[in-house]
Amino acid sequence: MPSAIQVLIVDQDADVRFGLRKLLGPADMEVVGEASFGTEAVSQAVALAPDAILCALEDPLVRPLETIEALLNALPQTPIIVYSTRDDVETVRKAMVAGVRDFLVRPLHREPLVAAVQGVLGWEEERRRRLSGGRRPLGFRGTVLTVFSAKGGVGKTTFATNLAAALASEVGQSVVIIDADTSFGDVLVNMDIAAPADITDLLQELESNPGADVSRFLAPHVSGARVLAPPQNPIAWSSVDAAKFATLVECLARAHDYVVIDLAAAVNPVTLAAIDAASLVLWVLTPHVAAIRDNMQALRVLEGAGLPADKIRFIVNHPAPADEVSATSIEASMRAPIYWTVPYDRNLYRQSQLGKTVDQWGHESAGGRSVVALARTIAGIADANSEGARRRFKLIALPGR
Ligand SMILES: Nc1ncnc2c1ncn2[C@@H]1O[C@H](COP(=O)(O)OP(=O)(O)O)[C@@H](O)[C@H]1O
Ligand SMILES: [Mg+2]
Repeated sequence: MPSAIQVLIVDQDADVRFGLRKLLGPADMEVVGEASFGTEAVSQAVALAPDAILCALEDPLVRPLETIEALLNALPQTPIIVYSTRDDVETVRKAMVAGVRDFLVRPLHREPLVAAVQGVLGWEEERRRRLSGGRRPLGFRGTVLTVFSAKGGVGKTTFATNLAAALASEVGQSVVIIDADTSFGDVLVNMDIAAPADITDLLQELESNPGADVSRFLAPHVSGARVLAPPQNPIAWSSVDAAKFATLVECLARAHDYVVIDLAAAVNPVTLAAIDAASLVLWVLTPHVAAIRDNMQALRVLEGAGLPADKIRFIVNHPAPADEVSATSIEASMRAPIYWTVPYDRNLYRQSQLGKTVDQWGHESAGGRSVVALARTIAGIADANSEGARRRFKLIALPGR
């Protein structure tokens, strides 16, 4: 993403345009032009070729909608975001039908506005990459769930392996888990399996045969999930750069409904590629001062590197019975709501030492039930969020947040 995003403001009201300019100035957005509706908007847009257009949408809707149509005729690839004091379904629907990319309700605030502009630009970039035959293929791509934390020992691997097993066994989807912990990965131990091959073997095969059948490189687990092992010697990771890792993820995503990636507690090229490829980053936190401090720093770094906030879901895991930091403080520190909470569960601890995942014991205790319910929620199975399911799973989780 370029450092200064160029936007054009289209609004009849000069005061509102001025207010928007002030709002965007400190946010690394350059307002390259202002225009009122109609021909002025179109001629400015054509002359300035902004990255994105912000456009007012107020009653009567006719003139702004005609302007939006004309703007899209002139510059079909330039995303338009509208803002309005109206938030009724009919207005939103008309805006969407006209072809706008996002709809913001006034009053406007800097953070959501900037996030909306960055969001539509990210989407546009992705769309172009797909159309230009870039590394993202057309056609089906499974959901990539990247499990990250800036701190080790927070339960990433326990969470990732159990989530993969739950998605495979409870949801019945095809799942592969990649152990991308570039130091010493524990996925094989946590799932108690041996692997026929590892990441470097698969990469080598893909280099000579990009359409290779990946299954013989994967270890089948009893849950139905499949596992791609890390190289036995972590030094071999030095041959895996970000581009190679991204190719590998895309290849596995073409062949599976879900790709779960367990990462090291480090920001390195593999981590960055895995986060870039993620549909969702499941960011594991523990309620401990040091963990929150390190993760706040990592969040700043990764957001600076282009990780959009809406891709992140914070998972608070309790690998120990005592909390140092409250949920409210965690949310304030990470500037986002906690999406899910996995409670402290001795059984989860014991079972992970035995190499057993939730498909083998999952309904026996709260930690397992929580991961199973999360798998169902991610898969869009509505009843994971229902009152009945909450009672059944005795959820400590915060579904729907
Ligand atoms: N919710 C939990 N309840 C009890 N023990 C847990 C929980 N989550 C993780 N653990 C334990 O914490 C330890 C560290 O977990 P692990 O998944 O290896 O962390 P990481 O991959 O982040 O280094 C393991 O012994 C694991 O069994
Ligand atoms: Mg681990």
